[in-house]
Amino acid sequence: MNTGITTRQDGRICIIEIDNPPVNAMSNAVRAALFAAVTAAAQDEGVDAIVLAGKGKVFCGGAEIREFGQPMSEPILPVLIDEIEGQTKPVIAALHGVAFGGGFEIALGAHFRVATRDIKLALPEVKLGLIPGAGGTQRLPRLIGLAKAARLIVTGEPVGAKDAEMVGLLDAVFDSDLLANALAFARKIVAEKTPIRRISLMTAALDASRADMPAFEDEVAALLKRARGLDAPAACVESIRNTLTMPFAEGLAREREIFVKLRDGEQSKAQRHLFFAERAALKVRGIPAETKARAIAKVAVLGAGTMGGGIAMCFASAGIPVTIIDPNPEALARGMGAVEANYRATAKRGGLSEAALARVLATLSASSDFNDVAGSDLIIEAVFEDMALKKTIFANLDGLAKPGAILATNTSSLDINEIASATTRPQDVLGLHFFSPANVMRLLEIVRAEKTAPDVLVSAMEVARRIGKVPVTVGVCYGFVGNRMLHARGGQVERLLLEGASPADIDAAATGFGFAMGPCAVGDLAGLDVGWRIRKERGTKAIVADAICELGRFGQKTGKGYFRYEAGSRTPLPDPEVEALIVRLAAEHARRTIGQQEVLDRLILPLVNEGARILDEGIAERSSDIDLIWINGYGFPVGRGGPMFHADSLGLAKVAERLDHYAAITADEKLRPAPLIVRLAAGGKSFESLPQTGG
Ligand code: NAI
Repeated sequence: MNTGITTRQDGRICIIEIDNPPVNAMSNAVRAALFAAVTAAAQDEGVDAIVLAGKGKVFCGGAEIREFGQPMSEPILPVLIDEIEGQTKPVIAALHGVAFGGGFEIALGAHFRVATRDIKLALPEVKLGLIPGAGGTQRLPRLIGLAKAARLIVTGEPVGAKDAEMVGLLDAVFDSDLLANALAFARKIVAEKTPIRRISLMTAALDASRADMPAFEDEVAALLKRARGLDAPAACVESIRNTLTMPFAEGLAREREIFVKLRDGEQSKAQRHLFFAERAALKVRGIPAETKARAIAKVAVLGAGTMGGGIAMCFASAGIPVTIIDPNPEALARGMGAVEANYRATAKRGGLSEAALARVLATLSASSDFNDVAGSDLIIEAVFEDMALKKTIFANLDGLAKPGAILATNTSSLDINEIASATTRPQDVLGLHFFSPANVMRLLEIVRAEKTAPDVLVSAMEVARRIGKVPVTVGVCYGFVGNRMLHARGGQVERLLLEGASPADIDAAATGFGFAMGPCAVGDLAGLDVGWRIRKERGTKAIVADAICELGRFGQKTGKGYFRYEAGSRTPLPDPEVEALIVRLAAEHARRTIGQQEVLDRLILPLVNEGARILDEGIAERSSDIDLIWINGYGFPVGRGGPMFHADSLGLAKVAERLDHYAAITADEKLRPAPLIVRLAAGGKSFESLPQTGG
């Protein structure tokens, strides 16, 4: 039986290897087998030292998070690691690939750590709303000091061999032949009788930290600034700080308590949901697993405007050669100038070395000649939002693009099936809907048109990952998933204003829930004229927003919108002029005081309601896809897991009941719960319980 652990002997050294593909996760079974293997080696008189390594591509990717919801069987990881550290024979962790989370904590339980040059070490628990729960917050500060430990633990970001060796995390780094070198290292330790080093007993790094507390406090202040309402970062710091006041065992027990509390809390559940959601989104309905991606080595972006420039940056930053094409020389120069200025600003802040800057700029080129699309594997159109123009461009591409090139449009509202019909190769056409600013926002809606070929979707997904995006595949409809839901919320913002809430009330409800900004401030930031222009073209209306635009109040760019802004400031200030305007516009509405809870419900539940319709129509495949879209494209608070997860947490019966209530008191039938919510609520079910398609 494969227990996930193999043991063999090389002379008087015992080699214990974790063998639990694909990432050697510490499942219940593996922990038990490792514990048994370590104790057996300890008792074996033929063994002088133990080398602990991982089979396959990595040392160990960490805990088995799929087992998180279930009861943990013995031995739990901290107990296993104590057992490893407590050995009197030297234990050497031989690391390659990754040692993440529990894998890194096991390595910290060993007496020595050696690694290959490719090693990446990280404690990414914070990204799942947790703190390292197996000694990481207690051992790491004792090894490298509090400030450096805080940086690693609170960011969750990996460090490579060079940095790890520099700060003292690794005792030796090898270019190749890890096991042979680790064995030689072990034999030397045995021969020289090098005393074993238990990190739990080390004090020097703690003393050094105590002597320089301002360095730690500065680090912590900078790290917690980015906590975005999440509890885990501060909990990491609290546990790290305990190393200064608590003996090791007490600090470890306290670490466990904090870990368990976070693990059972809503935020961590939400963050784990999002972790799995990202993986689930990579599986797309009806696409055979063996579908091969087309090679994408060269990209062209049509249109050097706001979006075109940002999109080109995504590729250039990932080292993929990209040409921006715009027939208007001024627009082209302006667009390229903006891209360059953006990169130079990053370099100036220290985010990009001079060499990297030169490299990135060299992958970017500009052209005003459409023929230059010829060598590109992927062409992304980001010109004005105008159907006739887009169809002309796609008809032209048909004659110019090489066979098999993927033809994408960044349209945010036009029918992609119609755009595809302008070519003789609709199977190569799809939507790649980036979000503004495209070089920053992680979301990429991949819009599958009627005839989009499976390998085109797979290619889009793969290239999205290469440029660091979170891809989510959606179907064609007005606004796709994200903007369609935004639109539904926008309708409620209008109604709330007319019924008695102020822009400040609305934004306070949203920020209280965890959004960084409320919808009114976001509108002011993005420019209210954008939506106004679209509404005029589509012949639709928004009573309040239109009236605000008619006063020339376009948001921050004009110093006033829903709010007013002092010169040079981005702080939204309530403006009596707007409040008077709303009262005038609301003449036929009986205005009332609207409670915070109602404001919040009417900002969140319409998202859920529209999301349910989108699911029912098959525009999104699974509720977690919708959550990813709102988390990565619209600033939905991470700790809430996305609108659909949040609705599941509330319970769909309650969601249905509240929607019915608001529909009744406002006579707004749009607020009636969608049929899917009613069906699920009646069966006591959740969105998550729906059958998961794909894969
Ligand atoms: P923009 O107005 O900033 O830029 C459009 C650019 O297209 C201009 O530089 C123009 O010179 C160029 N252009 C016009 N005709 C062209 C042609 N025949 N060939 C090549 N280039 C041509 O527009 P923006 O905001 O960048 O939007 C572009 C597209 O992206 C639109 O479809 C829009 O709906 C979509 N989009 C916009 C978002 C935003 O927040 N601005 C977000 C997501 C999608």
